[in-house]
Amino acid sequence: MTDFHRALHSLRVWDTELPSFDPASAPPEPLPLFHDWFTAAAAAGQTEPHTLSLATVDEDGRPDVRTVMLHDADDRGWHFASHATSAKGRQLAARPEAALGFYWPVQGRQVRVRGHVTTGTPQEAYEDLHARTTGALASALVGRQSEVLDSPETLAEASAAAWRRAEAEPDAPAPTWTLYVVEPAEVEFFQGDARRRHVRLRYRRTAGGWTRELLWP
Ligand SMILES: Cc1cc2nc3c(=O)[nH]c(=O)nc-3n(C[C@H](O)[C@H](O)[C@H](O)COP(=O)(O)O)c2cc1C
Repeated sequence: MTDFHRALHSLRVWDTELPSFDPASAPPEPLPLFHDWFTAAAAAGQTEPHTLSLATVDEDGRPDVRTVMLHDADDRGWHFASHATSAKGRQLAARPEAALGFYWPVQGRQVRVRGHVTTGTPQEAYEDLHARTTGALASALVGRQSEVLDSPETLAEASAAAWRRAEAEPDAPAPTWTLYVVEPAEVEFFQGDARRRHVRLRYRRTAGGWTRELLWP
């Protein structure tokens, strides 16, 4: 057995004290439950609960996935930001549909969101970026996300220049930086259970509002 296999086989999930979740007491809409679970994850010491997996598909229907930061979750949907010129930006321009995945192991909880993606206005993207750190602005100013990089030195120079500009010019625009909003069509809440009697509650948007249904785990 290799060290990798020893490490892999020694690991467990749902091996800690997990919160209970009574779906009968869940609110009629998913957003307040997401806010509750998010706040509880942060309070329980979950590291980086605001990171999520973002899945998109390319023009050939091939799935792609990567991690991004959550910028908001409100009545419009789940917000994140990226470059319109990146791989994900091009995929979303061609097929504006996405799936999001949050996993908060401290509480054995997973939240999945699927829906149509719209873009915020350039002004919203600008305000969202400029409310963040100098590092976030410097990173956005580097640009060229997902392009092939010829050498680490090229990036070092571009990054140093972007940091100088972000510090000297905190209002500098990053034209390709775009705010995306996933309008939820489905939101699923998964509460893990030590005896594998996991609770899955799915909200589905229908003509009359939200339908709630339990799913077999
Ligand atoms: C913790 C973490 C947070 C990230 N947050 C973002 C983000 O908010 N926006 C973004 O464009 N990329 C973010 N990235 C980088 C993406 O995962 C990805 O490398 C990049 O966006 C290029 O993806 P693409 O080639 O599929 O477009 C983050 C990466 C990590 C590990």
